[in-house]
Amino acid sequence: MLRGKKVGLRARHEDDIPILRAELYDDVVNGSRAEGRPWRPITPGSNDSRLVVDDTVESNVPFSVVELEGDTLVGTANLWGIDNHSRSAHIGLGLLPAARGKGYGTDVVAVLCHYGFVVRGLHRLQIETLSDNVGMLTAAERNGFVREGVLRSSAWVLGEFLDEVLLGLLAEEWKPDARG
Ligand SMILES: CC(C)(COP(=O)(O)OP(=O)(O)OC[C@H]1O[C@@H](n2cnc3c(N)ncnc32)[C@H](O)[C@@H]1OP(=O)(O)O)[C@@H](O)C(=O)NCCC(=O)NCCS
Repeated sequence: MLRGKKVGLRARHEDDIPILRAELYDDVVNGSRAEGRPWRPITPGSNDSRLVVDDTVESNVPFSVVELEGDTLVGTANLWGIDNHSRSAHIGLGLLPAARGKGYGTDVVAVLCHYGFVVRGLHRLQIETLSDNVGMLTAAERNGFVREGVLRSSAWVLGEFLDEVLLGLLAEEWKPDARG
């Protein structure tokens, strides 16, 4: 398990799946805002890639996020779009509603940076998020990510086009204990 200050990132367990489905992926608003594709329900027992991990897909590394104290499941995180030639990848995360606003998101980003830069030897990490997602923007910027641009009207979200912000962090800029 990868450990941060408050949360740990470990492999997906079978028991995590019904909780993540009910609390994250059944939520139409959360799903529509967090994913770049239309919301659709996940059938119990299906092998939907949002929940069931396919270890043969090397470009995507999904984690379940747990509280270090008590080991309670609090969300998902992943390093996706891993490009071993240009040594870059994207970061994604989603916390269960009750786990938001406690600093866990900031800690998850820090742990994903450690995984990307130290464990995988990547050079660049990238985040795309809706421009009104203050929690995600703050969690990213506290770890040193800088805003590199705005993707105007790039996301269709529940009836309207919204802007996304593109943030990047390079290995040489990363300060492991920043999180300021
Ligand atoms: C976005 C998300 C990952 C942020 O994680 P989090 O644990 O809630 O964020 P943190 O507690 O680390 O907050 C970091 C800062 O952001 C701010 N913040 C957090 N949520 C906020 C919100 N909804 N509105 C305004 N500010 C917010 C806080 O000011 C906090 O700073 P503080 O410590 O001074 O209070 C989490 O809320 C989440 O999973 N949301 C739903 C899914 C999602 O949006 N995923 C990202 C898709 S790109």
